[in-house]
Amino acid sequence: MAGKIPPQFIDELLTRVDIVDIIDARVPLKKAGKNLHACCPFHNEKTPSFTVSADKQFYHCFGCGAHGTAIGFLMEYEQMSFPESIHELAEHVGMTVPVSQSLSATPASQNLYDLLDKVNQYYVHQLNNHPQRDQFTAYLQKRGLSRQTIEHFNIGMAPDGWDNVLRAFGSNDAIRKQLDEAGLLSSNDNGRTYDRFRNRIMFPIRDRRGRVIGFGGRVLDDSTPKYLNSPETPVFHKGNELYGLYQARKANRKLERIVIVEGYMDVIALAEKGVTNAVATLGTATTPDHLRQLLRSAPEIVFCFDGDRAGREAAWRAAENALPLLGGNHQLKFMFLADGEDPDSLVRAQGAEAFNQLVAGAKNYSDFFFESLEKRVDIDSMDGRARLVEIAKPYLRHVPAGIYRDMLEQRLAEKAQTSTTTLNRHLEKPAEQVTRKLNTSTKANNNYSPIRTAITILLQHPELIDEVCPFDKLALLDLPGMNILVKMLETLTEHPHLKTAALLERARDTEYAGHLQRLAVQALTLNAEQLKPELNGILSQLQQQAISERYEYLENKGLRNLTPAELAEYKGF
Ligand code: UTP
Ligand code: MN
Repeated sequence: MAGKIPPQFIDELLTRVDIVDIIDARVPLKKAGKNLHACCPFHNEKTPSFTVSADKQFYHCFGCGAHGTAIGFLMEYEQMSFPESIHELAEHVGMTVPVSQSLSATPASQNLYDLLDKVNQYYVHQLNNHPQRDQFTAYLQKRGLSRQTIEHFNIGMAPDGWDNVLRAFGSNDAIRKQLDEAGLLSSNDNGRTYDRFRNRIMFPIRDRRGRVIGFGGRVLDDSTPKYLNSPETPVFHKGNELYGLYQARKANRKLERIVIVEGYMDVIALAEKGVTNAVATLGTATTPDHLRQLLRSAPEIVFCFDGDRAGREAAWRAAENALPLLGGNHQLKFMFLADGEDPDSLVRAQGAEAFNQLVAGAKNYSDFFFESLEKRVDIDSMDGRARLVEIAKPYLRHVPAGIYRDMLEQRLAEKAQTSTTTLNRHLEKPAEQVTRKLNTSTKANNNYSPIRTAITILLQHPELIDEVCPFDKLALLDLPGMNILVKMLETLTEHPHLKTAALLERARDTEYAGHLQRLAVQALTLNAEQLKPELNGILSQLQQQAISERYEYLENKGLRNLTPAELAEYKGF
């Protein structure tokens, strides 16, 4: 885990390494203004949208959204682990990674991966040897799965009983703790702990590198929940992972297209029939993170949904989440199955060819987009067409500026029977800063919060810390993002030489790491000198607000009730 390598070492490493050298050695870069660029190594493209900033020591692709520091680049490009990238970079600049007691021990996450792998082997072993295995194998057979497919997806069984895994693995407290951390245990109100997965068919979930990170477990009958999944753990994050992506990449040297389906069994049944390019989200909507990963693996993504209402709604959610990734040299499409059908039932009844034909006939993103919006208005009336523009507006705002957005706007103008000039007067032009913004949520529109702006400025121009006005009271304000802002101000006060990349690496294991990475790539039109007053304006206003709230609080408490410290503080105002 990152925590094991001292952050000061990582700071120092990042000041010595030049991300330009690291990337240029693997992906030759060309000068483009202040930055360097190349065709993105993480998705297919013909014109370069992958840029590397020597100032920020950070890379970012405007096409697929890939971004990170030199450490992140090696992890992504060379598929290295975090410690591996650190070692590689240290070697490159002749530094020695400090070997502390804890560092020489296996990192905690490595233990979890090892344990999850062993537990998976245990489940597979049970499917082949357990005295009650027959009903499990019979079930899999009934679902049409061959021995090869079962092995290919490493399907196993969790036998009935409360403590099979606990007994097989939990020989001491340390391992029990790990079993719990790996999400393999549950406990009841009496504090009794037992196996989470009991009497279920077990589907191991692998990450892109093939490591087992969690499980989905299915009952053999109609009891509920039908699928039980691993909870979020240090190695398992539902919103990032895709079931079957590892297998799809392994089965295809070059993927031209990936189909996103809804269930584990859909992925497996398709593979059984030779359709090896399907993946499934883990019971969640498709997130922009999912899409970015997929676009790095294939230039075309087809969303496959049930034709029923729930399927249509899920498709629309996926379409919303895809807005920040539109354009570029890739395609997103939608296909719908007949009501009540899923890919599993379809390929089993009609074969792979029928499925492939539906994939080939999938709707383009723009067709689905406008079709869905048009359903909400009466397109035959002027009033309805005006409403169409109103509804489309907030969506278009999330599409990156470029030819694709221009064409969507043109199409909207045609549908609304107006001109693009008239339309453009009504489409709010987003400020330059947010055109490239890659939102995780397309709904919340808190882009302009001052705290967020302050964080963005500091993150991109950490040198401004030398000239910031007092901020010692900010922590008193309970506002979203304030903890991040305060932390960053404190870190920079203590280590004023840190660059963007080092700040990002320090946040790597925090819940807001992704948030900071997005802020790091927002294009700021002003330079540091111009941003300084903006930053200080925000800080002093927040400081003022904190002081008056505090003053009011102390006053309400009554002078007589103040502690000596509070009294001193009060007099100080
Ligand atoms: P489905 O019910 O469509 O899955 O749920 P499926 O693969 O078609 O199931 P069967 O085996 O053919 O009946 C789609 C996905 O939603 C999640 C799982 O990820 C599942 O693959 N899900 C569904 C759950 O997490 N829990 C549930 O109880 C049901
Ligand atoms: Mn199904």
